[in-house]
Amino acid sequence: MPMTTSSPAPAATTNIDSMLKEKRVFKPTAKFSKEARIGTLKKYKKMHRASLRNPDKFWGKLAEDLSWFKPWKKVCVWKPPFAEWFVGGKLNASYNCLDRHLTGPLRNKAAIIWEGEPGEVVTLTYLQLHREVCLLANVLKKHGVKSGDRVMIYLPMIPEAVTAMLACARIGAPHSVVFSGFSAEALKERTNDCGAKIIITSDGGYRRGSALAVKANVDKALDGCPKVKSVLVVQRTKMETPMTPGRDFWLHEEAQTVNAVCEPAVLDSEHPLFILYTSGSTGKPKGILHTTAGYLLGCHTTTKYYFDLRPEDVYFCTADVGWITGHSYVAYGVLSNGGTSLIYEGAPNFPEPDRFWRLIDKHKVNIFYTAPTAIRSFIKWGDDWLAPHDLSSLRLLGSVGEPINPEAWIWFYEKIGGKRCPIVDTWWQTETGAHMIAPMPGATPMKPGSATLPFFGVDAAVVDDRGREVGPNVGGKLVIKRPWPSMLRSIYGDATRYRKTYWSEIPGVYFAGDGARRDKDGYFWIQGRIDDVLNVAGHRLGTSEVESALASHPDIAEAAVVGRPDEMKGQAVVAFVTLKNGVTASPALKESIRAHVGKEIGPIAKPDDVRFAEGLPKTRSGKIMRRLLKEVAASPNGIIHGDTTTLEDLNVLAKLKETGE
Ligand code: WT7
Repeated sequence: MPMTTSSPAPAATTNIDSMLKEKRVFKPTAKFSKEARIGTLKKYKKMHRASLRNPDKFWGKLAEDLSWFKPWKKVCVWKPPFAEWFVGGKLNASYNCLDRHLTGPLRNKAAIIWEGEPGEVVTLTYLQLHREVCLLANVLKKHGVKSGDRVMIYLPMIPEAVTAMLACARIGAPHSVVFSGFSAEALKERTNDCGAKIIITSDGGYRRGSALAVKANVDKALDGCPKVKSVLVVQRTKMETPMTPGRDFWLHEEAQTVNAVCEPAVLDSEHPLFILYTSGSTGKPKGILHTTAGYLLGCHTTTKYYFDLRPEDVYFCTADVGWITGHSYVAYGVLSNGGTSLIYEGAPNFPEPDRFWRLIDKHKVNIFYTAPTAIRSFIKWGDDWLAPHDLSSLRLLGSVGEPINPEAWIWFYEKIGGKRCPIVDTWWQTETGAHMIAPMPGATPMKPGSATLPFFGVDAAVVDDRGREVGPNVGGKLVIKRPWPSMLRSIYGDATRYRKTYWSEIPGVYFAGDGARRDKDGYFWIQGRIDDVLNVAGHRLGTSEVESALASHPDIAEAAVVGRPDEMKGQAVVAFVTLKNGVTASPALKESIRAHVGKEIGPIAKPDDVRFAEGLPKTRSGKIMRRLLKEVAASPNGIIHGDTTTLEDLNVLAKLKETGE
């Protein structure tokens, strides 16, 4: 950039250079737009403007979609960084997800269709789910659980996971779901942090063909959780399960001892609904606190507008209830809209890599929401797995969890969506509770790799270090400039950490770690986590663009890039790549990969090292753990000191170290 003496200080050094230019644009089909709730970009823009001009009026109107026991007095009270929404209002989330559907045609409609990994199918209508929830709520009461008490839920993907959340919501006991694949240690830490006295779990669950013990982990955790008095156990596998008398109870036996009438508690809008822990890359897990009205409204409206959900749809979200996606888009948002949520218990590649396509065909799924990491696995496994299955019931696709690389986007669009389904690429976080940036499926022209435009009421911007908005295609920090209903209210028990983590980087605005740029149409392109940005010879490169360029090489299934300290350039680019099935690694392939990135992005991003890997280290929710790769890249002897407790598969790391050059 030319500098003159009269120019102000140079732009803050944190701007992220943007090099990858994705030019393709896909419009929703005329048919989809015609039938959608929002059918034109103009209508979306008008509503978005109105939502920012007068948020109270806008949200007040949308909140009429929920059922209230008592109307609110004030839509939003904002004492930065603490927000309250729908102050003075009273409602109940389980009432909104169940009871209100029982008086009309939804009464006997499927709320949940569940398929176990071994293949059995259980359907629960709204009436049946309501009964199960009331029974479990009464069992909780019998065990002394009162409004405000925290309840741990440690369950595999079985209907009881949703029943348990709603039963807690019914009596005003905030739940804290811990992913059932997490260790006893993780469960212990979270249980103690929120001071729960009761845990709902199961004997086991099925994964890749075997019954895995779940309750056994609870027993281990409870050695260090003195406050826990009762454990309620769902019988899923009937595997042998030791029970401690006086502490452990079979849920089906307990349910026999209570009746099926349980009135929903009348709760304040700001009554805590749940605490969900996010591990983050450093420090102890943060208990993200969400409350009732704002959170529910966020899930409800985004499900309605972004997924265009209709009562006749079968909707399939592949996320586990242990993540926020499973809370907002397997349970609350779908059920509050009277939708049908298909829940699958097991692995996507059991018994074969076509299990999802089989499920879609068999249950005639209309809406399918999954993650880029899963899509890249499907690509790697090969298209032959799709051929036998009829996917024509699908009408909308969704993506979440990381930036979707354009290669994966196009594959998803063509091969799964048959070029007729919009892809709703949803940017959001555990902390935001609901979608924040995504295309309106009937209105927003899609650009592969961009989450596009913000949701109603979301005042998003890309800023430099000093909080000044940057121009088109300049990368910076993605911030939200005002409160929104489904935002986290605090970190449980640590308001100081809440303020420091989210509201202090740039005073007065919310920042939770992502880099992004906006293009000339105002579209947001997420560049990855700011902590992972590479600094190569003075250029700051976001991980996602380089990884997208790598993944567009015909032989690459998945890629991750990290920086390695380099005397000359500051950092050198190290790429870890996994290859598509049937491709073999070779020095020539390395050169071809380097050349490919040079061509796609420019010489500056050419990896200095290309390392072939069998797999990449990921968290249990599918995110690549770049901090571990950084250590592998930088450490000559392959010694890793970093915390590996949230790693999905330790073997992956061991193998990576072996393949060091
Ligand atoms: C982080 C939040 C939100 C539910 C699942 C993950 C990344 C998420 C996208 C997307 C680009 C995305 C961000 C964000 N992320 N969705 N569509 N495009 N990046 O929840 O574990 O709280 O992670 O995931 O980096 O900050 P989470």
